[in-house]
Amino acid sequence: MVSVEIERRDEVSIIWMDNPPVNALGAALRAAILHAVEAAVQDEAVIGMVLASRHAIFSAGADIKEFNQTPVSPSLRELIDAMDASPKPIVAAINGVCFGGGLELALACDARIVTSTARLALPEVKLGLLPGAGGTQRLPRLMNPADALKLMATGAPATGDQAVTSGLADALAAAERLLAEATAKASLLAKRTVRQRLRDTAADQGTRDAFEKAAATLLKAHPGEPQIEALIEAVRGSYEVPFDEGMRQERRSFERLLVDDRSKSLRHAFFAERESGQLPGDIGSPDVIDVKTVGVIGGGTMGSGIAMAFAANGFPVTLIETDEPSAQRAYDRIASSLSNSVRRGSLSETARSENLARIKTAVDYAELSAADLVIEAAFEEMDVKRQIFGRLADVVKPSAILATNTSYLDVDAIAEAGGDAGRVIGMHFFSPANIMKLVEVVRGRKTSASTIATVVKVAQKLGKLPVVVGNCHGFVGNRILARRSEQLDRLLLEGATPEDVDRAFTAFGSKLGPCTMGDLAGLDISWRMRRATGRTAPVADALVEAGRLGQKTGRGYYRYAEDGRTPISDLEVTTLIEAVSKKQGVKRRTIDQEEIIDRLILPMINEGARIIEEGVAARPGDIDVIWIHGYGFPRWRGGPMFYAQTRGYPNVVARLKELATLTGDESLRPEPLLEHLATDGKSVAPQ
Ligand code: CAA
Repeated sequence: MVSVEIERRDEVSIIWMDNPPVNALGAALRAAILHAVEAAVQDEAVIGMVLASRHAIFSAGADIKEFNQTPVSPSLRELIDAMDASPKPIVAAINGVCFGGGLELALACDARIVTSTARLALPEVKLGLLPGAGGTQRLPRLMNPADALKLMATGAPATGDQAVTSGLADALAAAERLLAEATAKASLLAKRTVRQRLRDTAADQGTRDAFEKAAATLLKAHPGEPQIEALIEAVRGSYEVPFDEGMRQERRSFERLLVDDRSKSLRHAFFAERESGQLPGDIGSPDVIDVKTVGVIGGGTMGSGIAMAFAANGFPVTLIETDEPSAQRAYDRIASSLSNSVRRGSLSETARSENLARIKTAVDYAELSAADLVIEAAFEEMDVKRQIFGRLADVVKPSAILATNTSYLDVDAIAEAGGDAGRVIGMHFFSPANIMKLVEVVRGRKTSASTIATVVKVAQKLGKLPVVVGNCHGFVGNRILARRSEQLDRLLLEGATPEDVDRAFTAFGSKLGPCTMGDLAGLDISWRMRRATGRTAPVADALVEAGRLGQKTGRGYYRYAEDGRTPISDLEVTTLIEAVSKKQGVKRRTIDQEEIIDRLILPMINEGARIIEEGVAARPGDIDVIWIHGYGFPRWRGGPMFYAQTRGYPNVVARLKELATLTGDESLRPEPLLEHLATDGKSVAPQ
């Protein structure tokens, strides 16, 4: 229930914002604040106001959900205008997060008192926007404009201490003194005859050169990003045009960006990430086991990464290897990876020692007798996994959860070997497991609700994004990837080069093209997977069979420079691919970028629709989260399923039919769900 409480302290009116959980500035809260400000202005006994929060955070800013709805008055701007026009001073008492519109409210106050744990940010660029309620005009009038620009362009929060140093905030206060200090400040400011407002100042012209330099650097780092270009223009306005004109310019840009697909996609990603952590409806709210200690089987790249992820979050880990030398190698690998983090400055020496102290290696499964959760990260072979689960069933306690880190094998078949299948689940981490946020939580046929809920909770404790998915070959991520890989191979066979494909992909917005990505991951991995399932990919198979496994052998779709990382076009690859095309009787032709992208992306959407129909993913947004966080799908495209929405379902369906006819590949025919969405009409326009 949204409310604003008004409390009187001496002659100061305290306006308490109370809109849990994050004081999002929705219509009701805006109206309540406006009402409180107007009442304080009218009340002769009140000399000033303090804006404060009843919650652990000051405000998360504008209510992002409202961005898709018809605007309701008072808008944030109207509220801020009223605050600006108040003859009585207003002080913001900032505890915790103060983001976006929340900070813009605070910028319209006469002073900002902060706790040292406060976090102040204008993160709108992360939603494809720029601050839309005066932030671009007030911030450069308050602090160095180049620093203001950087703050807005990164969207990264400043701590309370940093805010005071930069001039963004006026003073620090201990949490228990925050209100008293803010009230005292309001009383003090009330003694001034005229309020000093940022709108009556201008950005300091002496800082212009530094600002232009910062702007040039940003444009170079973010080519073609409309929100960065608009932000720079808006801040430049604080030097060049009066405040009100600057505000109009900011508004125009904000409104333009708000309806842009880029911002819609980024907003979709924001909510999809939060929704994906919610358990699918049929699971209910079962008891969650308190996981205190963890076991990991296998100390290779994945096992070590998983162990590090748990240790970094305070869990004691026992890592099991097959023999002492392998156990020592795993320990050394972890120690060296943590040392690299210290060298890069992302980990302190103390944290390194603490993390390492939490990891114990062993060779005897009996060491896992106390573990609450054991994650198997051994070879991707069913027999190996079943054998491990059989051994585990003999040693772990009955309440322990047994997870497999398989990336495509049948979790039910693994579960059969582990005794009670209710406690067996998939936890598909992505490499490097201590860095990548995504975890596919794979529920088997018999996995209990409590096991699912516990694993989701544990993954969240690691700071991961767990997404619950059903059990099928490759689950959600790799199952969709398989469709894309099939098309990649066909494109190469039909005439595209690895360079063509990668260029088209980076133009679409991905950091790496699929060929570069394949070389990085190792082409033998998918080759082995294909062999196990009786599938072929003529071009990729020929590369592997010629010893071209990717970066690890210095040759794959490309050859690699001496640094082992820089891809160089290789004539040998062209010859090899042409020979495969000839052998397969495929006539090569020129394939343009548009066809490359459509052939790679639209089948992913088709497979995503199948996955939704089968209930393997609970929501289309879950597929998007998996692809953004596990496979580098451009976040500003919203993920494959949202991309279908921005592109328009009828267009996707028509194009899939066209491609199926062009290539004779019947798997490209649109799924019934897509056909339905295309004719339903309602879902065509992006939300
Ligand atoms: N609008 C609407 N809902 C919001 C919200 C916002 N600005 N910020 C958070 N929420 C919701 C979340 O969706 C979530 O809802 P559910 O519980 O239903 O999933 C709930 O609040 C809690 O959020 P988190 O799970 O993210 O909680 P957290 O403690 O991990 O993080 C936070 C809190 C740091 C505030 C984080 O939510 C966040 O970064 N929010 C976005 C902040 C932002 O981008 N603000 C700018 C808005 S744009 C703006 O203000 C434009 C302008 O200039 C007018």
